[in-house]
Amino acid sequence: MKETEKKLSTDAYKGVRDFYPEDMAVQSYIFETWAETAESFGFDRYDASVLEPSELYKSKGAENEEMINEQTYTFTDRGDREVTLRPEMTPTVARMIAGRRRELSFPVRWYSIPNLFRYERAQRGRLREHWQLNADIFGTHDAMADVEIILLASAILKGFGAKDSDFEIFINNRGALNDLYAAHNLSPEQAATATAVIDRKRKMSEDEFKAALADAAGPDFALPTEAPESVQKILSALSALGVVNASYDPSIVRGFNYYTGTVFEIFDTHEDNRRALLGGGRYDNLTGLFGGEPIPGIGFGMGDVTMRDFLETHNLLPVTLGTKTQVMLILPDLSDGERAEKVAKELRDLGVNVAVDLSGKKLGDQIARADKRGIPYVITVGEQEEASGTYTLKKLADGGETKGTLTELANTLR
Ligand code: HAM
Repeated sequence: MKETEKKLSTDAYKGVRDFYPEDMAVQSYIFETWAETAESFGFDRYDASVLEPSELYKSKGAENEEMINEQTYTFTDRGDREVTLRPEMTPTVARMIAGRRRELSFPVRWYSIPNLFRYERAQRGRLREHWQLNADIFGTHDAMADVEIILLASAILKGFGAKDSDFEIFINNRGALNDLYAAHNLSPEQAATATAVIDRKRKMSEDEFKAALADAAGPDFALPTEAPESVQKILSALSALGVVNASYDPSIVRGFNYYTGTVFEIFDTHEDNRRALLGGGRYDNLTGLFGGEPIPGIGFGMGDVTMRDFLETHNLLPVTLGTKTQVMLILPDLSDGERAEKVAKELRDLGVNVAVDLSGKKLGDQIARADKRGIPYVITVGEQEEASGTYTLKKLADGGETKGTLTELANTLR
């Protein structure tokens, strides 16, 4: 490369993140808690490619204009096929469910942690690539599935240590709203505009909202104040199961057109983080895109960006997150390398996570490096130690030492 040539930036592409080890530790903690809680509810994990044929998002029923026209990363591949980086997982999982409709024994509970791509204006809580826990139940109209899905969402937040007062669950029913549109003789276009207005209610003042809603749906149209029966039923079941922070909210409509029944969102109650942590609902016709009888689905998506903001805002991230390396082997001299690699292998066979310091720095510096990386223990491996077969395990937090054979030390560490 010529000196005059412009050097590449070390920044990541706009709106996406690099995960340096300290960020990856947080990310892994979030994913592990998601996965463990979903599995404790009997959900099985699935995954798919980030690439989907663009038509998946354009077909009738899946259609969401803002998402498709303005927010997708779409390109034409070398074989002239139109391809989209998945902006959400629901069409993909509907495709997969429809593809195995004859083999699957419904209802099924599936979860996944896909990365999704949306061409959005990057801001707090909104990026161009995020990961999203998706948990969905397919193949039942029973309201207990709706209850179970909301219970899972709540259990996940509790699993991170959140209190009931840290978040609020808002529930509505898209079907009840559609009935209301019908009662007011709204055309599909008027209904869509009204839905978009209601979806933005939280971002407007009360007066602005009233004016916009009257514009879209006529002066007589108002949001109901009492929960429809379907929502009351879910609320009372949730309350019987110990969920005390759920309520009816007629302004929850969700942006996607595929929702047909229950819709819900969970919000952080903290002022600094007034964003939806997750959203979901019931969509009874999405698998119908692929032919055959529609298979009903209910589920939600919970994003990693808002999740991390939530955990940081409420001080819920464990302080011990970090390296999984338990021991660093310290070398009196770089020529002790082979000796140390043998010790490392023996310790790994005994189930210990070990790294070897190949920096060639002074002993004290090597210990300081291990400490800085958050590695809790060091063992010095020199000629003497090898000859005697006795090693010293040093705990960096308090300088405490334990002497013993590698097997004995490995037992202490487990
Ligand atoms: P969604 O409301 O678009 O729903 O996304 C769900 C959650 O993903 C949001 O509440 C937020 O936490 C996170 N999220 C969405 N977009 C972004 C972004 N650009 N940056 C960071 N986080 C984001 C869906 O995607 C539905 N497909 C969920 C679903 C599953 N419904 C039924 N099953």
